[in-house]
Amino acid sequence: AAVRSVAMTLALVGLAACANPQSTLAPAGVEAERVARLFWIMTAGATLVWIAVIGFALYATRANAERHGRNASRWLIFGGGVVFPTLVLGALLAYGLAMMPPLRADASPGSVRVHVSGEQWWWRVRYRPAGGKWIELANEIRLPVGERTEFELVSPDVIHSFWIPSLGGKMDMIPGRVNRLVLEPTRTGVFRGVCAEYCGASHAHMEFVAVVLERDAFDRWLRHQAAPAAPPTTPITQRGEQAFLRQGCGGCHVVRGTPANGPLGPDLTHVGSRLSLAAGTLPNTAPAFARWISRTHAVKPEVLMPSYGMLSADEVAALAAYLESLQ
Ligand code: CUA
Repeated sequence: AAVRSVAMTLALVGLAACANPQSTLAPAGVEAERVARLFWIMTAGATLVWIAVIGFALYATRANAERHGRNASRWLIFGGGVVFPTLVLGALLAYGLAMMPPLRADASPGSVRVHVSGEQWWWRVRYRPAGGKWIELANEIRLPVGERTEFELVSPDVIHSFWIPSLGGKMDMIPGRVNRLVLEPTRTGVFRGVCAEYCGASHAHMEFVAVVLERDAFDRWLRHQAAPAAPPTTPITQRGEQAFLRQGCGGCHVVRGTPANGPLGPDLTHVGSRLSLAAGTLPNTAPAFARWISRTHAVKPEVLMPSYGMLSADEVAALAAYLESLQ
């Protein structure tokens, strides 16, 4: 029965790893492959120790029943309890330590650099294209496939932890210091990133999306993100932009190309082009924008943005249409 349950657990773990956007067991990066290999080797080592200890225990129980138990107990204590685990765990420790230097290796000088700030409860993401100005966006990171990308990880408030399980190990974001992490994706796709350190009421609503693209598509995307917002063209989005400025949204948010230049909250210049809203909490649709604006604290408890529940339904719909149009 024990063997069957172990086999069942391993089969379930294997199935769960397939086609999962957030799995260390379905690696899509060089660093994640190392972590996954270490996991399987550790699992094999633990299984060996378990089989040996149970084997010695069964042997000792039987020997005891047959009244020559003292010798068998010695086997159990020194073989199953000391010698065998020391050998296996020592080998696993040596293997694990040998893996550490490559995980800390630097990126090459020409590689993409992404500056990410973990904030309660979203991700401020900044890129600086060669020779250009800083571009800010939020809750979405895009990377070129097959290249080493260096992340500079910071936090202005509490400790967060930056983790894209499919691409590599996690790294804490600690107020007052810059931590570095290098990731090299090996295949294109959309992967989920999470905050892996409890950071307050809405820690569970602090996700992001990591999109791995071919180099051409990545460059096109970055050029698009660097451009200012296109002016609204339909009556409802024009009313939305007026409401956005009248309600003072620009006191906290930037929309490049408009007077909105508040540095506190997420940059909304291309918010409509992102794959999700509110750090992975909502889909990126006009109804979701409306919900976020009018019932902010129901969606994300204790978030700094105030709820705008006092706005009329028309005004909320116009704001939502405007934000969705910021492609
Ligand atoms: Cu940020 Cu948990």
